[in-house]
Amino acid sequence: MVDLIVRGGTLPDGRVADIAITGERIVAVEQGITAEAGTTIEAAGHLVSPPFVDPHFHMDATLSYGIPRVNASGTLLEGIALWGELRDQATVDEMVERGLRYCDWAVSMGLLAIRSHVDTTPDHLNTVTAMLELRERVRPYLDLQLVAFPQDGLYRAPNGRANLIRALDMGVDVVGGIPHFERTMEEGAASLRDLCRIAADRGLMVDIHCDETDDPLSRHVETLACETQRLGLAGRVAGSHLTSMHSMDNYYVSKLLPLIAESGMAAIPNPLINIVLQGRHDSYPKRRGLTRVKEMQALGIPVGWGQDCVLDPWYSLGTADMLDVAFMGLHVAQMTHPAEMARCFTMVTETNAAIIGLPDYGLHKGALASLVVLDAGNPTEAVRLRPARLAVVSRGKVVARSAPGDAALSLPGRPGTVRRRAS
Ligand code: FE2
Repeated sequence: MVDLIVRGGTLPDGRVADIAITGERIVAVEQGITAEAGTTIEAAGHLVSPPFVDPHFHMDATLSYGIPRVNASGTLLEGIALWGELRDQATVDEMVERGLRYCDWAVSMGLLAIRSHVDTTPDHLNTVTAMLELRERVRPYLDLQLVAFPQDGLYRAPNGRANLIRALDMGVDVVGGIPHFERTMEEGAASLRDLCRIAADRGLMVDIHCDETDDPLSRHVETLACETQRLGLAGRVAGSHLTSMHSMDNYYVSKLLPLIAESGMAAIPNPLINIVLQGRHDSYPKRRGLTRVKEMQALGIPVGWGQDCVLDPWYSLGTADMLDVAFMGLHVAQMTHPAEMARCFTMVTETNAAIIGLPDYGLHKGALASLVVLDAGNPTEAVRLRPARLAVVSRGKVVARSAPGDAALSLPGRPGTVRRRAS
C-alpha cells in the first residue's frame, strides 16, 4: 500500500513508468507497479516531469505593476528608479500578500522552487522581513531561496555593505551583487572580491547580477570566474544575465568562455527580460542582449533559464510559467535543433535545480515526491504548447489540478473537439 501512484506517464527521457509515493518520498519508479494506492493519477499519454525551477526572480517586487506608476521608457534604469520609490512605500504585509498570490500562480504551473533576489538597500529592510516571512508561509509546498541583493550597489549605496550583512544575519541564503552598477569598473571588481570572500567565509552560494548592460566593455564576469576559482567556489556561483557578452568582441570571448568553464560557475540568462530591456539605446540594428547560451553550453558551462520579473517595474507581463521562459529563450538563442529544443525544457527543470543546489530533486527512488503532469507527449511538445498542468504534486500532496486545453469545434464535416498536440 502506498499513498499515491502516478500511473503510466512518459518521463522526460522517454521511459514510460509508474511512480509510487509514500509520505514525501518517491518509493519506486518502474513499469506495472501493483501496489494499491490511496490516490491514483492516470497519466498515460502525458509527460510527467520533475517540477519547474526558477533560478532568478524578484519576489519583493512582483505583482506591483503600475505602482506608483508604469515604467514609461521601458528601460532598466527607469525600472530601478521606480522600484526605489516602491520599496519605501510597500508594507511588509503587502509584499507578503503579493508574494503569496504569485506563489499560488507558480504552484498552478508546476513551479515549485524559486530563487528570489531580495533588495537589501533600504535601512528598514522591509523587503527582507517580508520575504523571510513568505519563505516560511510557503515552505510546506514551495522552496523559496533568498539572495541578498544590494540593488543600489554594495559600495554605491550609503549602507549597502552593512545592510547586505544584516540581511545574511537575518537568514537570507545566498550572496548577491551588482558590480556593473557600482561607481567604477574598479569598485565593481572590488565588490565581487568582497562578496565572494563573504560567501566563502559563511559557506554560502553566490548569485550575481553580472554585466546586465549592453556595454561590451563591462567585463565583471571574468572577475567572478577568477574569484570562483581562487576561492574554490566551483558549483556554488552563478552569474545572472551576462548580457554584455552579447556585445563583446569575439576574440575576447574566445578567451573568456574557457575561463568560465574552468571556474565551475554557472550562467542564468533571463530571456523575457533581456529581450525587452537590452538594446534600448540602439536604433537599428538593435541588439537582442541575450548572452551566448549555446556557446557556453558547448563548453560544458551549466546554463539555466530564469524568469526574473512578473508584473513589476521592469516587466509588464509574465505568468509564472517557466515554459514561457523556455519558449522565449529557444527563439532568441535560436535553439531549434531537436536536441536544443529538448534541452530548453531540461534547462527549466534539472539544470536550474542543479544550479541552485536543490537537494533530492528528480524522478527517482528516494527523491522528494514533487512532480508535474503536463498535457504534452514529450519535453519539446511541452515547450511548443505550454500546455495545461493536469496535476501538480508537491512533497507527496496533490496541490493543483487543471483541465486539458481542448477546444470544442462547430465546423461542418470536422471533429467536435480539437487538440493541438502532435504526439
Ligand atoms: Fe534580476
